[in-house]
Amino acid sequence: MLNRGIRAKVVGTGMYVPDRVVTNEDLAGLMDTSDEWIQQRTGIKERRYIEPGQMPADLAQAACEQALEAAGLEVGDLDFILLATLSSQHEFPGTSFFLHEQLDAGHVPCLDLRAQCSGFLYALNFADGLIQSGKSKRVMVVGCEVQSTGIDRTTEGRDVAVIFGDGAGAVILEANEVESDSAGILDVKLHSEGKHARRLWIEAPSSGHMPCRLTREMIDEKRHFPYMDGRHVFKHAVTRMPEVLKESLANASIKIDDVDLFLFHQANLRINEYVAQKLEIAPDRTFSNIERFGNCSAASIPMLLAEAERNGILAPGKIVTLTAFGSGFTWGSAVLRW
Ligand code: COA
Repeated sequence: MLNRGIRAKVVGTGMYVPDRVVTNEDLAGLMDTSDEWIQQRTGIKERRYIEPGQMPADLAQAACEQALEAAGLEVGDLDFILLATLSSQHEFPGTSFFLHEQLDAGHVPCLDLRAQCSGFLYALNFADGLIQSGKSKRVMVVGCEVQSTGIDRTTEGRDVAVIFGDGAGAVILEANEVESDSAGILDVKLHSEGKHARRLWIEAPSSGHMPCRLTREMIDEKRHFPYMDGRHVFKHAVTRMPEVLKESLANASIKIDDVDLFLFHQANLRINEYVAQKLEIAPDRTFSNIERFGNCSAASIPMLLAEAERNGILAPGKIVTLTAFGSGFTWGSAVLRW
């Protein structure tokens, strides 16, 4: 931590999901699966999919406008917009520039950041650095995913298809003077381990593929759909998440008993229950929305923050942790005083 007398404080949150609800029963009409299997293995009951014509930047825009309104700010007050996603609107320039256009953000710099399901925590870390270094005063951090258009909704792709959903969440961070108990980010700890990259990935299109990035053959072989070694992911997630959560709590000098709320990336309710059990965290100290929204990757954590704040679970002074694990592999944890 730079600790230059400045702390990055969340001053506004927002979230948006499309209106179209897709239940487990709906998916069972497309592939060999069942509501019972999905709920038992993942905790998911339904998720949201975009309507034809809706774009990732539309979801992000709605979440960002809520966050700006909650903070009482205009887009021109921002010094940076960081958008984390694994499902960018276009191969390049990504999603953030379309969001930028829709927000009418003038010349405020923006960029897309890719760290998959840990993407929001990675973006939060960079926003924290920009603010603590004095380079930026206010940074908007957005997580946005449209996964419904990129999954194999047949029995072959059912392991991944039942998990993912569409959604967006946003927070605005502002420089705050440090006093002993002032609100803000107390620590962010991140890790990666690239040797597992092919255990959870989308192979195509690939810029290293000859003669071009995406061929008919690749599509026929379904290499443009996500591949997941579910058991491998599960095993690593339940090990790495408690490890990094403990690391970031130690860096922030916060005891696990002093945490009011533990928020976990919404990949699979069973992963989070396992992690909570390992750390002896009672269910009433966590909050989930996976049963309603599925796994929204980089959007999951900011969506949780916005909901938790709206229903009063998160209030000023509370200590909250954010922990995620995802493709790469990437994982991380943050500690904040709200
Ligand atoms: N519906 C019904 N059956 C399904 C299914 C589905 N949606 N998906 C897989 N199955 C089947 C498999 O084909 C397999 O059948 P078989 O025994 O005849 O071969 C059986 O269920 C068990 O599959 P397995 O992959 O061993 O199940 P699992 O207990 O590991 O659960 C996951 C699968 C995906 C739920 C689990 O591995 C998981 O949650 N992993 C982590 C995923 C994750 O978090 N991803 C995102 C990371 S950010």
